[in-house]
Amino acid sequence: MKIQFTLNGRQEVLHISSDVPLLQLLTEYSGISSIRPGCDRGRCGNCVVLVNDLPLLSCLVPAFDIRGRQIVTFERFSQTRDFTEIQKGFTQADALPCSFCFASKSMLTHGIISGNTSPQPEEILQAFSLNACTCLEPSRIVQGVQQAGTLRGRRRRHGRRK
Ligand code: FES
Ligand code: FES
Repeated sequence: MKIQFTLNGRQEVLHISSDVPLLQLLTEYSGISSIRPGCDRGRCGNCVVLVNDLPLLSCLVPAFDIRGRQIVTFERFSQTRDFTEIQKGFTQADALPCSFCFASKSMLTHGIISGNTSPQPEEILQAFSLNACTCLEPSRIVQGVQQAGTLRGRRRRHGRRK
């Protein structure tokens, strides 16, 4: 099957089986190295990418589902102001995740605060239930995301005033 999509701002065309998971497509066919899968079946939550700006577990998305969509991986997301802001929020809340999972956690955070810069703990923990992690207290994750949301909200308000 011919699959056309945009990967990190670049047009891609691949001829692959339609049910190949996006994770495999990215790591084996498109040279993406930032993803650190731990299970291949939706359990570890460490394979998050943005699909049309929504964070999804790439091991659960079949290739045919990404035709015509915009895929952003951590290679690109880590270069954005959105990411720097999230990193700052987690640092200020003293809740910086480990380097193994931060790519996925930062994109999950982006998904939350893009829609709501003042998320409630339940909303945050629901989104983060995708990313298994026993080393960071849930309350710290909540504080990190809320602080990132505060910074995002401040930037939006300042942007509107210009
Ligand atoms: S690789 Fe573990 S959830 Fe996708
Ligand atoms: S797995 Fe990275 S902080 Fe828990």
